[in-house]
Amino acid sequence: MRQKTTLLGVLPFLVHLIILLSHINGDINSDKQALLNFVSSVPHARRLNWTSTSPICSWVGVTCDDAGSHVIALRLPGIGLIGPIPPNTIGKLDGLISLSLRSNRLSGNLPSDILSLPSLHNIFLQNNNFSGEIPSNFSSKLSVVDLAYNSFSGEIPPTIQNLTHLTILYLQNNSLTGPIPNIDVTQLRALNLSYNGLNGSIPTPLRKFPPSSFEGNTLLCGSPLRGCASISPSSPPSPPVPQKPRPSKKKLSLGIIIAIGAGGVLLLCLLLLILVLCCLKKKKSREDGPSAKGKAVRAEKSEEFGSGVQSAEKNRLVYFEGCSHTFDLEDLLKASAE
Ligand SMILES: *[C@@H]1O[C@H](CO)[C@@H](O)[C@H](O)[C@H]1NC(C)=O
Ligand SMILES: *[C@@H]1O[C@H](CO)[C@@H](O)[C@H](O)[C@H]1NC(C)=O
Ligand SMILES: *[C@@H]1O[C@H](CO)[C@@H](O)[C@H](O)[C@H]1NC(C)=O
Ligand SMILES: *[C@@H]1O[C@H](CO)[C@@H](O)[C@H](O)[C@H]1NC(C)=O
Ligand SMILES: *[C@@H]1O[C@H](CO)[C@@H](O)[C@H](O)[C@H]1NC(C)=O
Ligand SMILES: *[C@@H]1O[C@H](CO)[C@@H](O)[C@H](O)[C@H]1NC(C)=O
Ligand SMILES: *[C@@H]1O[C@H](CO)[C@@H](O)[C@H](O)[C@H]1NC(C)=O
Repeated sequence: MRQKTTLLGVLPFLVHLIILLSHINGDINSDKQALLNFVSSVPHARRLNWTSTSPICSWVGVTCDDAGSHVIALRLPGIGLIGPIPPNTIGKLDGLISLSLRSNRLSGNLPSDILSLPSLHNIFLQNNNFSGEIPSNFSSKLSVVDLAYNSFSGEIPPTIQNLTHLTILYLQNNSLTGPIPNIDVTQLRALNLSYNGLNGSIPTPLRKFPPSSFEGNTLLCGSPLRGCASISPSSPPSPPVPQKPRPSKKKLSLGIIIAIGAGGVLLLCLLLLILVLCCLKKKKSREDGPSAKGKAVRAEKSEEFGSGVQSAEKNRLVYFEGCSHTFDLEDLLKASAE
């Protein structure tokens, strides 16, 4: 009698567990089916070990979450994928956080179900031949968006203004037209809209980026470009940000030379100065302290941004060498996440 009641009491729990397990299984099975559909309709040069009988989490390029219930990253750079991505394939991976299909030969429209995947943070589709408009239904979590070196046309979707987590936006070398949306996002630290057909003026929040973020848009006007872009299309004006650290180094070495040369004189001056300082000490420290500190902070910031530009350039150089497995922005992000 008692045994029967305990069994009955446990029963709902067991049913719950079975439903839960089948749900987890259902998710990963639907991910598996979505990827099998993708790979069967998109020809590729390199063979993938994606077979329906092997566990999806062991497939090359696929990363699952710890529970093995969702695909969270798909990385297939430079494996010769060719042709369009069908809708309802990658766009079905509803736990996907990071997608890289860069440096392939993918073409046609980008299905709108990919950019709107609710958990998508990072997307790398650069160096393909996608065409048509950029879908405007974005996941609100998007942080890194690289659609550069494709054939996208139409306007940059104004909905991009609502991406509060956006940190990197690369759209250079496409055929985008119309105005630049007023992207007023403080986290945005890298932007490239060069070599498109954009027009109008550059929105104020984006004027902090260097001219090379905007070059090659002949109808684009205003700061940081000198007048309209068409006046100086190819000659790159001195990029102000990355070169800042160098002059400070030159100043430093010059200072050392002067110090060595005029060491004796300086010593004499120093003695005199100490005397004068005795009288003005309080006043001087109050004036110099805060401004010196401000300069240091500014120098640090510009240096940080300069190195960001450099790493972006490395990324491009790596691509030109035709090697798809060396370090790039994506790997750096991955490494920092890990
Ligand atoms: C697929 O290849 C990767 C590495 O190339 C390997 O780790 C994995 O075990 C392979 N999976 C299957 C199902 O063969
Ligand atoms: C935008 O994407 C969401 C999923 O992220 C979907 O629920 C919604 O229907 C989509 N809206 C449009 C207009 O396509
Ligand atoms: C890219 O696609 C366009 C059509 O959308 C085509 O005219 C062009 O030749 C393609 N470019 C490459 C490099 O395949
Ligand atoms: C941004 O989001 C707000 C609220 O969700 C909405 O009212 C507004 O129209 C959106 N702006 C754009 C450009 O999509
Ligand atoms: C980007 O466009 C510019 C101007 O057309 C061109 O010089 C450059 O080679 C292009 N870069 C790539 C990788 O296609
Ligand atoms: C920008 O180009 C579009 C067509 O692509 C045009 O309708 C619009 O008037 C242009 N705007 C400016 C400010 O030139
Ligand atoms: C933007 O892209 C163009 C073309 O590839 C490149 O020449 C320029 O240096 C890039 N600028 C930045 C700030 O990344």
